[in-house]
Amino acid sequence: MLWAVRFHPPEPLVVAATGWSPMAQVAAVMASVILALGATIVALVVRYERRLPDAILEAEHQNDRRVEARLKSRSAVILGLAKLAESRDDETGRHLERVRAYVRLIAEALEPRLDEVDRDFIETVVETSSLHDIGKVGIPDAVLLKPGRLSDHERERIQRHTTIGGDTLLALKRRWGDDPFLVTACEIAFAHHERYDGTGYPFGLEGDVIPLSARIVALADVYDALTCERVYKRAMRHDEAREAILDKRGTHFDPMVVDAFLEREEGFRRVLEAERAGGPGGADALPAIP
Ligand SMILES: [Fe+2]
Ligand SMILES: [Fe+2]
Repeated sequence: MLWAVRFHPPEPLVVAATGWSPMAQVAAVMASVILALGATIVALVVRYERRLPDAILEAEHQNDRRVEARLKSRSAVILGLAKLAESRDDETGRHLERVRAYVRLIAEALEPRLDEVDRDFIETVVETSSLHDIGKVGIPDAVLLKPGRLSDHERERIQRHTTIGGDTLLALKRRWGDDPFLVTACEIAFAHHERYDGTGYPFGLEGDVIPLSARIVALADVYDALTCERVYKRAMRHDEAREAILDKRGTHFDPMVVDAFLEREEGFRRVLEAERAGGPGGADALPAIP
């Protein structure tokens, strides 16, 4: 018993004799282990939290790069298909590129005035403007390329390029859903020959019933047609085209779109002159034109 007491003394005896408790020491060791573990966990969490925003940012950048690459591919395919359609009757070359540049100038001038015009709207209208005449692929060469005066029947056939293009894009929209890109492409293909006073085609839409995207493309398209040479007409200078467009303010063209054109007419002149010079600085040199 004495032996047991000597070698395994009850804790109260030890405490009483030495003031030292084994249980207290174990508790102290455990406490320091727990503290050390806690500190390590806190350090790890802090490190993880510090790195988390970087990881999220990196993931977002990667995603942005993927989206950007997809959008670039889509732009290239669209422009390629539109150029293919245009190549059948393209007398002027680079019509689509110039229209894109003019559409951007008008849309950017409208941005501070209209809630519906934001960066997404601008990019979508610029992109889809290339498809405005895509329906010309459905017009026979004998009509589309006829050099002389068109009969009423032939003119009516050419005008069908709006419904051919619009119906094709509408079928895609029905299949793929109401993607803003397809919606805008439909609006432009159907309505870029509508006139603000209701005398256009194919539906005779009037005023703001004509989608804004199509009202913008209408002016850009006509400005380019006026300032380009054809076999049957000379190219107008910028100031002549400006007068012709002002003359149609409120009849052919939406007055608000004409005002946006006037606000950015230096940009129009710059694109036109650079394209005529044929050197760098043409429509492709403008920002954001792929
Ligand atoms: Fe057209
Ligand atoms: Fe056109």
